Amino acid sequence: MMFDYSVFIRNFDTRKETINRKNMSRFSKFVALLMATLCAVSVSARELNILPQPTSVTIEAEGDYMVTAKSRIVAAEGLCNPAERFAEDMMRHFGAKRPMQISKRGKGITLNTDSTLHAEGYTMTISKEGINIVGGSEAGVYYALQTLRQIVVTNNGLVPYGVIKDEPTFSYRGAHLDVCRHFMSVEEVKEYIDILAAHKLNRLHWHLTDDQGWRIEIKAYPELTEKGSIRKETLIGHGHEPKWWDGTPHGGFYTQEEIKEVVKYAEERYIVIIPEIEMPGHAQAALHAYPWLGCQEQEVDVWTMWGVTPEVLCAGKESTYTFLENVLSEVVELFPSELIHIGGDECPKDRWKVCEHCQAKMKSEGLENEEQLQGYLVTRIEKFLNTKGRRIIGWDEILEGGVTPSSTVMAWRGAKIGAYAAEHGHEVVMAPLPICYFDFYQTESREGEGLRIGGHINFEKVYSWDPLEGISEEARKNIIGVQCNLWSEYLKDIKMVEGQLLPRLGALCEVQWANDRRDESTIRRKMESMRKFYDANGWNYAPYYFEGRK
Ligand code: ACM
Ligand code: ZN
Repeated sequence: MMFDYSVFIRNFDTRKETINRKNMSRFSKFVALLMATLCAVSVSARELNILPQPTSVTIEAEGDYMVTAKSRIVAAEGLCNPAERFAEDMMRHFGAKRPMQISKRGKGITLNTDSTLHAEGYTMTISKEGINIVGGSEAGVYYALQTLRQIVVTNNGLVPYGVIKDEPTFSYRGAHLDVCRHFMSVEEVKEYIDILAAHKLNRLHWHLTDDQGWRIEIKAYPELTEKGSIRKETLIGHGHEPKWWDGTPHGGFYTQEEIKEVVKYAEERYIVIIPEIEMPGHAQAALHAYPWLGCQEQEVDVWTMWGVTPEVLCAGKESTYTFLENVLSEVVELFPSELIHIGGDECPKDRWKVCEHCQAKMKSEGLENEEQLQGYLVTRIEKFLNTKGRRIIGWDEILEGGVTPSSTVMAWRGAKIGAYAAEHGHEVVMAPLPICYFDFYQTESREGEGLRIGGHINFEKVYSWDPLEGISEEARKNIIGVQCNLWSEYLKDIKMVEGQLLPRLGALCEVQWANDRRDESTIRRKMESMRKFYDANGWNYAPYYFEGRK
């Protein structure tokens, strides 16, 4: 390996160190209770450090309800899933042998719903009688339990008497994960989902196909994964001359059964997975498997470099459309998400300009240029997905080909493009450069960071960003949410991904969930508390924000 990543990666495995309360002596139980009480008192003015910031937090002057491994969850009909998730998390946290008891009656942590609340919102009332949670839906209850989990983990199980009310600013709170440049296993993706859920995110944009690897099994086209999921080797460094490769094959893909398992895992955490099948560019791995998908039909390798390749799908041949429709037919069977991401970014038109099929299609469809040919492809795929009851989302280049406002635009080339799309009636997810590019360096000096793609985005820059700035009142309604992007050219496994995601996701989730109520004066205190939470969960995070390095 060329770089010493060990300096950067800090994989705390505190789970092993978690105290097993069952084995505690009476004396150590007494000491633990005393410490817990002292700690609670030391939370200045009994402040609670909840991230993202709830709508309102009212804490009584004294009194705490103690959550232990033996607490009982009293769940109303239909709330088994959030109850079970909380019980699992608490079992792990307390190092208990059994999960908390879940029952229909009794006292403890009670879960109910009230449909007059915001669907993802909740009210949590803590008193000596217990903790009473009312969510707008199952998801609202789940988010209340995430809040409770944070308090329990960072405040020694003591939950101050009071009332917490909460609901999100944005309905789309996403994070993207590129598993093409470096493959991440099912377990790794699940760990990523755990982190998103704990920050109250509800979308995972799963980037499944690209030039460097095709990662999803498609039964109609087995060679996509048999051939297209493996590249011979990988570029070392940024590829400035002279170029070097590592000489090591890299591959991996998900079977359809594995995809279903991940989708279910995410669903149980109220996260919708939006799959991305890239077209018409970023498709060289598919072209390696099936050269007939290209204009000139020549053999190409699964790409071993980073950047933008001229090898793209032919937009002229009908066989390309049949292929895309067959692939998407299998994709929609696996992913219940209403939105399906069709990519659309960075598609050079060099091959199309000299392709008889592309030129013939432009002529027959009355298209003036190759940009319009891309618009034709996107619109045709959109119509196809509509017949399946789905809608498309694409990177903001889809605007260039003249698509209708029925498509959702993911703004990546700048927030201004997002604003433009919103003004023109598109639903927009803000995921712009540079703020949302969590593959960027996190410090100005870059010292000790290892090789990253470039740029500089620190916690403070993310936290101070308002995605609605400069957007008219009318167009603001079209901004459905915000997302960070994790491209994995220089991120070889989930621990490296986590080191890029955390703690910046702590800043982003405030933008996503609490954009209307961020309080700069409390963020550092809250992040110190989150750091304990990250440690307790064994998640890797970058140290720079905590060290005061910008
Ligand atoms: C992108 O970063 N090419 C969407
Ligand atoms: Zn062509």
